[in-house]
Amino acid sequence: MHSRRALLYMPGDNWQMITKSITLGVDSICMDMEDGAAVNKKAEARATIAKALQELDFGKSEKLARINSVGSGWERDDIEAVLPYHPDGIVIPKVESFGHVEWASKIIEAAELKYGWPINSIGILAGVETAKGILNLKEIAAHPRLASRAIIFGGEDFAASVGATRTKDAIELLYARQAVIVACAANDLQAIDIVAIDYKDLEALRIESEFGARLGFVGKQIIHPAQVEPVQTAFTPNAEAIVNAKRIVETFAASQKEGRGAYSLDGKMIDMPLLKNAQKVLERANAAGK
Ligand code: COA
Ligand code: MG
Repeated sequence: MHSRRALLYMPGDNWQMITKSITLGVDSICMDMEDGAAVNKKAEARATIAKALQELDFGKSEKLARINSVGSGWERDDIEAVLPYHPDGIVIPKVESFGHVEWASKIIEAAELKYGWPINSIGILAGVETAKGILNLKEIAAHPRLASRAIIFGGEDFAASVGATRTKDAIELLYARQAVIVACAANDLQAIDIVAIDYKDLEALRIESEFGARLGFVGKQIIHPAQVEPVQTAFTPNAEAIVNAKRIVETFAASQKEGRGAYSLDGKMIDMPLLKNAQKVLERANAAGK
């Protein structure tokens, strides 16, 4: 699975930011036709993203294009403008039903057939950021076109959708964030956390990122180059976590051989769930190239 610790947006009409983004070593680059692109710049965003996909080398960064929401009236022109240049994935915002994903999936499959690309070589990452989307997570997360990709939780849109007031500790988003994490875990998808819009406050970003990682998110949306490093660090298991996880994996195997399911390590009880968690830590470290 592609590592998606930091997913950077920029307005799709901003060529300068797109060319900057490929120099940042960011996991995913999401060129935006939705809310980051002004209403009078939608056409320019489509053309600029198409040009970027044709001309730029994104290196190891995942190339994503975010279309406008299904039902906005812009979505078909958006997706048709970028598909011929084979992005790695399409991000659909404000997904509220299986049908929203299915609409895009059919169009993508038609393009894959037309151009002779492998089926499912272009993924969908679903933005879930409304009350309806949270209610319908079960069916959305199960769509096959999402398989081994991600659900992106939009905190600002969700707050607007339910009438919540955003606070610094984001306690008002906790239920929805955890709902996204659960739906992702049940379908082996990656859960991507909220944007910190106060992009100059890197200490607040660190705290919010670490909290998101503890909840179970594997990455976070970002909007500014300064956010890349703190977010990648927070979503990469640190050296201590890796050492601890390795010790659990090793001692667990030895303990099983001796016929003990539960045993003591540094004064703490270790059994199967702790092994599974340790394996997840090592998977994430591995995905991050550590
Ligand atoms: N992606 C790539 N490069 C970016 C960037 C981004 N999201 N945001 C800023 N940069 C670049 C700038 O172009 C500038 O490059 P330069 O030094 O080569 O000239 C550098 O980083 C510093 O930018 P800075 O002056 O600090 O930012 P700003 O004041 O110009 O812009 C924002 C601030 C928030 C308007 C801008 O970061 C932005 O538009 N972010 C994305 C917003 C978005 O896409 N929202 C929708 C999805 S939630
Ligand atoms: Mg949004």
